[in-house]
Amino acid sequence: MTVALATFELTKRYIDGERRRVAVDAVSLSIDTGRLVALRGPSGSGKTTLLGLAGGMIAPTSGDVQLFGASIVHLRDAHRTTLRRERIGFVFQELALVPDMSLLENVLLPLVPTGGAGRAERERALALLARFGLQGREASRASRLSGGERQRGAQARALLRDPSILLLDEPTAHLDAKGAAEVVSLLAGLRDEGRTIVCATHDPRLANDPRVDHTWTMTDGRLMDPDAPRPEAPAC
Ligand SMILES: Nc1ncnc2c1ncn2[C@@H]1O[C@H](COP(=O)(O)OP(=O)(O)OP(=O)(O)O)[C@@H](O)[C@H]1O
Ligand SMILES: [Mg+2]
Repeated sequence: MTVALATFELTKRYIDGERRRVAVDAVSLSIDTGRLVALRGPSGSGKTTLLGLAGGMIAPTSGDVQLFGASIVHLRDAHRTTLRRERIGFVFQELALVPDMSLLENVLLPLVPTGGAGRAERERALALLARFGLQGREASRASRLSGGERQRGAQARALLRDPSILLLDEPTAHLDAKGAAEVVSLLAGLRDEGRTIVCATHDPRLANDPRVDHTWTMTDGRLMDPDAPRPEAPAC
C-alpha cells in the first residue's frame, strides 16, 4: 500500500505577542492511499494547523511533510504551489466561497491563476455540481445558498483538478443530520474511488461513522493514538 501523506515530528510554534504557543507538537503520522481518516479534538487542539501544514499552506517550525514519499517542506514556493494545485484539494473551515459570485464561478475559481476555464473544465465543474446534488443551483450566488449547499459546493471546487488527496476542515459543521449524512456518504464515495481524505472535525457523526477508516485525536497539539503508526523520521 502506498503512503499518500506522512508527517515526521511535525511542529508549528506561533509567536503571538509575548506568548509562544505550540499549535502542533511533534506529530508523526502516516496515511495510506485510499483511506478516509478523521482528526478530532477540542477547539484549539491544532487540527486546522495540522491540516494546513499537511497541505503545504503553513510552513512548519520543524519536521517534515511527505506527499507520496516526497518532502514538500524543502521545495521552493512555486514548486510547492504547483504540487499543491495538482495533488491536493482543500476545503477550508470557513469555505472561502466568494459570496457575490455564482456557484459555478466559485467552482471554477481555482483555474483563474492558470488561465481560466475552457469548455472541458466547465463541463467537469457542472458534472461535479450534479454529483454533489447541486444541479439547478449553478447560477445562484454563493450568498444565497444554504449551509449544506455551500459546503458541498466548496467540496466540488476542491475536486475540480481531480486531486488525489482531499483535506477538509470541519466538513459537517453547522449541518443538520441529513446534510451531515450526505456529506459523509459523498466522502466515503470519493474514498472508494481511491482518493485519500483527511477531515478535521469535532463532529462525532463524522468521526464515529463506520465508513471512516481511522480516527486520530489531537490534544494540545499532540496526536493521541497509541495504535497509530509512528514512522521513523527519515535519515538526514
Ligand atoms: N496564525 C496564528 N497565530 C497565532 N496563533 C495561532 C494561529 N493559528 C492558530 N493559532 C493557535 O494555535 C492553536 C491551534 O489552533 P487551530 O486553529 O489549529 O485549532 P483547531 O483544533 O482547528 O480549533 P477549532 O476546533 O476551534 O477549529 C490555537 O491555540 C490557536 O489560537
Ligand atoms: Mg479548526
